[in-house]
Amino acid sequence: MRIYKVGGAVRDRLLGKPVTDIDWVVVGATTEEMLAKGFRPVGADFPVFLHPKSGEEYALARTERKSGRGYGGFTFHASPEVTLEEDLIRRDLTINAMAEDDQQNLTDPYHGQRDLEARLLRHVSPAFAEDPLRVLRVARFAARYAGLGFTVAPETLELMRQLSESGELEALTAERSWKEISRALMEDQPQVFIEVLRECGALKVLMPEVDALFGVPQPEAHHPEIDTGVHTLSVLEQAARHKQPLTVRWACLLHDLGKGLTPEAEWPRHIAHEHKGLKLIKAVNERFKAPKDCQELALLVGEYHTHGHRALELKPSTLLELLQSFDIYRRPQRFEEFIAACEMDARGRKGLEQRSYPQADYLRGAANAARAVAVQPLLDKGFKGPELGEAIKRERLKALKAYKDAASA
Ligand code: CTP
Repeated sequence: MRIYKVGGAVRDRLLGKPVTDIDWVVVGATTEEMLAKGFRPVGADFPVFLHPKSGEEYALARTERKSGRGYGGFTFHASPEVTLEEDLIRRDLTINAMAEDDQQNLTDPYHGQRDLEARLLRHVSPAFAEDPLRVLRVARFAARYAGLGFTVAPETLELMRQLSESGELEALTAERSWKEISRALMEDQPQVFIEVLRECGALKVLMPEVDALFGVPQPEAHHPEIDTGVHTLSVLEQAARHKQPLTVRWACLLHDLGKGLTPEAEWPRHIAHEHKGLKLIKAVNERFKAPKDCQELALLVGEYHTHGHRALELKPSTLLELLQSFDIYRRPQRFEEFIAACEMDARGRKGLEQRSYPQADYLRGAANAARAVAVQPLLDKGFKGPELGEAIKRERLKALKAYKDAASA
């Protein structure tokens, strides 16, 4: 049997990037031989094994045929006769279809190195279409390597367009899609992921609610960029620039979905878009089974981002309602993430990227004022049950009034 390093490890070494995990391909071996050497099978009918010591993935060289839709729809043909070239030709991109032996001799039959130099994400062969998830993968690689000048080759974009139109993307499982989306959002330029998906028509299929934002105008006074889609991309760009976590990036992407529902006659204003957008945010959350913290923050940011921007003008009672909605007493982190998302929203506007955002400290101060209300004195006064709750609320309101007065003095 012959063993080669393949995929991302070869690509990233040639790019001079750190290699995190290594995938291996094994040519000329059978499942039985792998098991005899102590490799552990990953799944029942999947010709992939884990190394007994390193835990790295070793896949038998294989050709792949599609027999149905979705992930479970694959059948694999792995046998000792499958050559390295036959294995590489069914991979997604030329830059991912290079192999290296233990002497660092490169096998590059599909010119991955040439495309690395040309900064091109190009599919290897028509076998690209065997796995529609690759549409998302290419968009994710575009987001990751945009800073190095990579773009998607026109013929690959065309193939992605055909796949998007074919209905294949609908068959992807939520889990596989979310894995790509969440990784893409954590890249340096996540807005490029959305741009590429939009360009090939996949955004319309995967997140029509986000796609609908392009072409929708907003008032120029607050949004010099005017277009809601362009604004959304800028907010995402800011979130990455400020190294925000996934929760915040997801919330940034979805915060303005309600604006896509505004009747044209009302443009460029979007009255109550915060509330109208909630059902759309919920739908996208559920479509991809986003983790609970992402779902929650997206909904809260969707509903309250305008409150965040208007923080300094809010009445103490409204401010208190906002703090209560976030359960700031038990969930301080989530409120911080809300503030971060609001700040990214304020900065994701043309020419306003460097603006200051005094609302952030004001909101933090308000949260601290409400948290500082001590419960013990109220217990000592004999308050219990619902009355205690009311008494705490009254004290918090008093504290917020004092906070607001002091801030505006
Ligand atoms: N691959 C593929 N099609 C897929 C998934 C993977 O062709 N849908 C191939 C590619 O050759 C890829 C390799 O399997 O390079 C390993 O896949 P994976 O570990 O998912 O990605 P990497 O390329 O290693 O990239 P990353 O740095 O994102 O892990």
